[in-house]
Amino acid sequence: MRLQGKTAIITGAGAGIGAATAALFAKEGARVLVVDRDEQRAAEVASAIEGVALAVDVSQEAAVEAMAREAEARFGRVDVLVNNAGYGIRGSVVTTAAADWDALMAVNLKGVFLCSKHIIPLMAAGGGGSVVNTASNIAQVGLADRAAYVASKGGVAALTRAMALDHAAQNIRVNAVAPGTTWSSYFDKILETHDDPEGFVTALNARAPMNRVAQPIEIANAILWLASDESSFATGSILTVDGGMTAW
Ligand SMILES: NC(=O)c1ccc[n+]([C@@H]2O[C@H](COP(=O)([O-])OP(=O)(O)OC[C@H]3O[C@@H](n4cnc5c(N)ncnc54)[C@H](O)[C@@H]3O)[C@@H](O)[C@H]2O)c1
Repeated sequence: MRLQGKTAIITGAGAGIGAATAALFAKEGARVLVVDRDEQRAAEVASAIEGVALAVDVSQEAAVEAMAREAEARFGRVDVLVNNAGYGIRGSVVTTAAADWDALMAVNLKGVFLCSKHIIPLMAAGGGGSVVNTASNIAQVGLADRAAYVASKGGVAALTRAMALDHAAQNIRVNAVAPGTTWSSYFDKILETHDDPEGFVTALNARAPMNRVAQPIEIANAILWLASDESSFATGSILTVDGGMTAW
């Protein structure tokens, strides 16, 4: 029970990596605020783990402030914040519409800023805590046709280091996990209409030397380590979990 007695907020917890993290945290003894902009997904995940569901769009400051008030009212303290909500879009800088760039940055990067801004004071009041941001391995190496997404995750990695410095004296550690390709609902959707689903999966697997994608639990395990006291001397670090993709 590595999170016994702790309280955690996980954003984007209605699916994929966030949902796996919520289930794992609950198993390890944490009380979890399951945050997602999709109310139904949040409710489903929360009910399975006796957590608390909250519909929040992390790009909206008023909603994030309400989330902080809810966490304080329910739990009295916040020990762990997992800034995981995010999504990707295709496009080079030339083909990406400015409005799509802004919308993605508002979630992937500003969302991390807003949630941290409003939760870190609660953590500090409780004597410290751990923030874990979900970056991506493409923050280190780039990926073709994903300009906005790569830039947003590079920003998350940089913000992680900046926050680690700002809050070390408050006993708040700030780290990021950098997943490689991880199976998600996004890929399920692609498979539904793809004319060569097998070829698609083969190509996806071939991105990594381990010749497979990660399952969400494999990323959740890394987030758990960063969230728990086992990583007590880690701050400002980016933990890559990508089957060797960035070693290539
Ligand atoms: N799947 C991958 O290959 C991969 C690789 C590296 C990094 N990541 C990152 O991991 C994180 C989780 O991705 P996933 O693959 O589990 O995705 P997913 O689509 O399965 O789940 C993401 C969840 O975030 C929620 N969400 C999206 N925008 C939100 C917002 N504005 N406010 C609140 N919730 C919001 C969605 O409703 C969804 O439930 C993302 O930040 C993603 O960029 C994913």
